[in-house]
Amino acid sequence: MDTLLEILTTTYPKTVSLDDGTPVTLRPLLKEDEAKLAAYFANLPQEDRLCLKEDVSDPKVIENWIYELDYDNILSLIAFHNGDIVGDATLHFNPIGWTRHQAELRLTTSTQYRVRGLGTLLLQNLIDIAKRLGLEQIHIEIPPRLDKAFYLFEKMGFKEVANLRGFVKDLEGTESDLVLMVKYLQE
Ligand SMILES: CC(C)(COP(=O)(O)OP(=O)(O)OC[C@H]1O[C@@H](n2cnc3c(N)ncnc32)[C@H](O)[C@@H]1OP(=O)(O)O)[C@@H](O)C(=O)NCCC(=O)NCCS
Repeated sequence: MDTLLEILTTTYPKTVSLDDGTPVTLRPLLKEDEAKLAAYFANLPQEDRLCLKEDVSDPKVIENWIYELDYDNILSLIAFHNGDIVGDATLHFNPIGWTRHQAELRLTTSTQYRVRGLGTLLLQNLIDIAKRLGLEQIHIEIPPRLDKAFYLFEKMGFKEVANLRGFVKDLEGTESDLVLMVKYLQE
């Protein structure tokens, strides 16, 4: 089993190619990325921020994330193209208690970069990290409106394990089901 620091320092930064050959660089979030991350989230459509659980269009939320940056708690893997952030994937660890064998995942890509393989690449990188850390499962919570995400996670081996009826309300106050999908890493 590798430590997170070993994995990050030996693997990133890493340049990968989207389906159309566009080169994208992946690396963990750094404190200096604050302004670019705020700009990235400000440009995401409101409905795409549903699964992020915090109001990422508020620069204070990003400021707080950067202030509290600690990969052992939340690992944010960022995708860059031409110096701009074009995707963000996070693993939320729960090192204490009965969820210490798992992590929660959140993922967004920039609208201009979608359906070119970026979401799949970011997700595959987080899966690889989680496996190398010896985690047993990772999960994602998605409202059904984010149906593209459902197909992506299903393609990557996640299984729907629960559908919580009317469990969440989006930013407009609309009630929605919440789908819990789990990927078992040691199958
Ligand atoms: C879900 C999301 C991350 C996918 O990112 P992406 O960069 O388009 O991902 P990919 O290009 O790798 O597409 C992956 C898969 O998603 C599905 N998908 C993506 N866009 C789709 C579309 N317009 N119609 C149908 N399926 C789609 C497909 O299964 C696709 O796999 P395939 O190309 O092998 O068929 C992106 O659409 C997004 O940020 N959505 C809003 C936020 C969100 O839903 N996040 C996930 C929950 S936290």
